[in-house]
Amino acid sequence: MTQTIFLGIESSCDDTAAAIVTGDRQILSSVVSSQSDLHADFGGVVPEIAARAHAERLDLVVEQALVDAGLGLDALSGIAVTAGPGLIGGVMAGVMCAKGIAAGTGLPLVGVNHLAGHALTPRLTDGIDYPYLMLLVSGGHCQFLRVDGPDAFTRLGGTIDDAPGEAFDKVAKLLALPQPGGPHVEAEAAGGDADRIPLPRPLLDRPGCDMSFSGLKTAVLRARDTLIADQGGLRTADRRDLCAAFQAAVADVLAEKSRRALALSPVPVLAVAGGVAANGPIRAALQQVAAAAGARFLAPPLRLCTDNGAMIAWAGIERFRMGHRDDMTLSARPRWPLDQGAAPMLGSGKRGAKA
Ligand code: KG4
Ligand code: ZN
Repeated sequence: MTQTIFLGIESSCDDTAAAIVTGDRQILSSVVSSQSDLHADFGGVVPEIAARAHAERLDLVVEQALVDAGLGLDALSGIAVTAGPGLIGGVMAGVMCAKGIAAGTGLPLVGVNHLAGHALTPRLTDGIDYPYLMLLVSGGHCQFLRVDGPDAFTRLGGTIDDAPGEAFDKVAKLLALPQPGGPHVEAEAAGGDADRIPLPRPLLDRPGCDMSFSGLKTAVLRARDTLIADQGGLRTADRRDLCAAFQAAVADVLAEKSRRALALSPVPVLAVAGGVAANGPIRAALQQVAAAAGARFLAPPLRLCTDNGAMIAWAGIERFRMGHRDDMTLSARPRWPLDQGAAPMLGSGKRGAKA
């Protein structure tokens, strides 16, 4: 049988991405065009600007992915595209692009849930078997999932308000750091004292795996304002200490909740994915939790933690192998929970209520 080769297209937030991935887990190319510069002045992603930029860039990014892989469209077995959840204009642009290529070539089309793309990444990078425990932490979502198959997810807990990446971005904004804030907060935190400014560890006093990050961001705002009132301004060291305290609080919450989720997991495997999984100290804290529980810890390389087309191509291959096909009625969905049976979470990521 000939090799399965998929094009994956991703445009649900502020990265326009395309990749070519094979059925035996080779990433032949992966192109990500970031829109950070377009949104920088607005302190967050502006949906209309994002949608227009996706529409302008998708063709180029897809073409580049094919060129980098040294393949033509005729070498492909199918096209996978993020069909939600996400900012609807961007998702629509991606779905339209994929439909156009599918209609022009006759190739099979497979719609993919963006969150499934993140959640199946350890299968692409490490080839692990089902089931496994996944902590998905990004700008729009935060949840513990038991992953039993390409389409079988059970949510064990999640945020009841902001996602951690969103909190990182808001803290960056409070401290006049650039967006997206995560990497900048991490860099500042590296030179800071995490113990100088006490911050809460929300929901640790309650059983279960649910989390909350919105109060933490407000606590950073209060601490910042107190420092400004006392000193007449913020010093470099204050900013670093605030970032360090915030990052340590997020790490503590994620670590303790991961410990509890692992206790509920049928297998001793903790995998992480999503942009916040790119954070060094958070990764280290989670790794420690896994080691203490005697569990295997899996974190994808940084470029596969943040949004990319390879994870979409891979999730598409997995769905394709299950016999899943979409047609020209495939629609873009702003919301698309992975665990259809779970009760909707309050808020659950205010940036477009993705999960
Ligand atoms: O998964 P992702 O690329 O996009 C979605 O939200 O789906 O995640 C982006 C989020 C942003 O909020 C960004 O600030 C955060 O991940 N992030 C980080 C780091 N790198 C990216 N947060 C903390 N530390 C980082 N190093
Ligand atoms: Zn994502």
